[in-house]
Amino acid sequence: MKNNLKFIDDIITKIKHDDTHRKLKSGHAIGKYIHINKQKLLNLCSNDYLGIANIKSETIEQIECCSRSIISDPVFGILESELAHHKMQENSLIYPTGYMANLGAIQTIVQHDDVILSDEFNHASIIDACKLTHGKIFVYKHNNIEDLESKIRLKQKRIFIITEGIFSMDGDFANLKQIVEIAEKKNALIIMDDAHGDFVVGQDGKGSASRLHVEKKIDLYISSLSKGLGSFGGYIASKNNVIELCVNRSRSFIYTSALPSKLINLALTRYKANREYYRKRLWRNVNKLKNGLKKSGYKINSESQIIPIIIGDEKMTMEFSKYLLNNNIYAVPIRYPTVAKNNARIRISMTSSFSDKEIENIINIFDSGISKFKLN
Ligand SMILES: Cc1ncc(COP(=O)(O)O)c(C=O)c1O
Repeated sequence: MKNNLKFIDDIITKIKHDDTHRKLKSGHAIGKYIHINKQKLLNLCSNDYLGIANIKSETIEQIECCSRSIISDPVFGILESELAHHKMQENSLIYPTGYMANLGAIQTIVQHDDVILSDEFNHASIIDACKLTHGKIFVYKHNNIEDLESKIRLKQKRIFIITEGIFSMDGDFANLKQIVEIAEKKNALIIMDDAHGDFVVGQDGKGSASRLHVEKKIDLYISSLSKGLGSFGGYIASKNNVIELCVNRSRSFIYTSALPSKLINLALTRYKANREYYRKRLWRNVNKLKNGLKKSGYKINSESQIIPIIIGDEKMTMEFSKYLLNNNIYAVPIRYPTVAKNNARIRISMTSSFSDKEIENIINIFDSGISKFKLN
């Protein structure tokens, strides 16, 4: 029988040949551990940075399933007004995921012939969102303000600069102060996806813009509830008219089912938790781990809780990850296409949950790894 899908095998063979093949690993993430079969591993890839994903909500509702355009449970409005306040914006809107928030909001706000300037390291959801617009897309070199400025022509109609707050694979912060200066000079708008900075940095965890006191200069915030808030979902925050337009035109908001209210209640409970306590613990842990890794000889450039250990070679990165696994540490290897080829890395994300003893154990294992894999 003719196999029309044979070309798929060829693509997969090529992926395997490039050492970038992925297989889903079956296991459970519970608190700071990952359980795979009978092995209990320290989870170094959690997005629950504050370690609050175990805080329970008291409400248990049935799970309903319909678009918010049909009916919108009031609990969404309650969380949205909290999130608007949190971002110091007029209003906010919750989407089913951060990915969908990017797709829906960027596609809605960018109009025909508008110009988008997007950082080359922006997350896949931003890249996909830009492709859905009718704007002209220019990619500027990562965090490179000269390159950004050189790509702005004054005769361009409307210009959007899109950046992440903390870059998800490198853990560095966007050069927001300079971006704001350029945006003011060139009359451009700023869209910032702060999925990894939100609830984690800045005053009261208000995010990357708050860290540099430029929170009022961002025109549209996009974020996730699934990371620093340890919950599920995505949201945007901006002026009332942006939210109104998204309710009316944003395809990934309208043409899909809303999150179950139970999850919104959960996010609300975690929003109201003593996040400052967990944030302080997180930064203590981040500093302890970074100091230990630096002492071992690792080059650590990250300023945030996301700490990449750049290895380069894909195969060696996989072997390093296996070595960690054998030592009860789970830290995923990141390879192409998530990062450029030969730029593979072990991406550590630190959380508030680890004890001093556990961090010391992690440092010891990385310390032995540096000579074993000849990384210095
Ligand atoms: C920068 C960035 N934006 C958006 C997302 C998507 O968020 P969510 O997991 O809520 O879809 C991610 C997820 O990893 C991310 O890193």
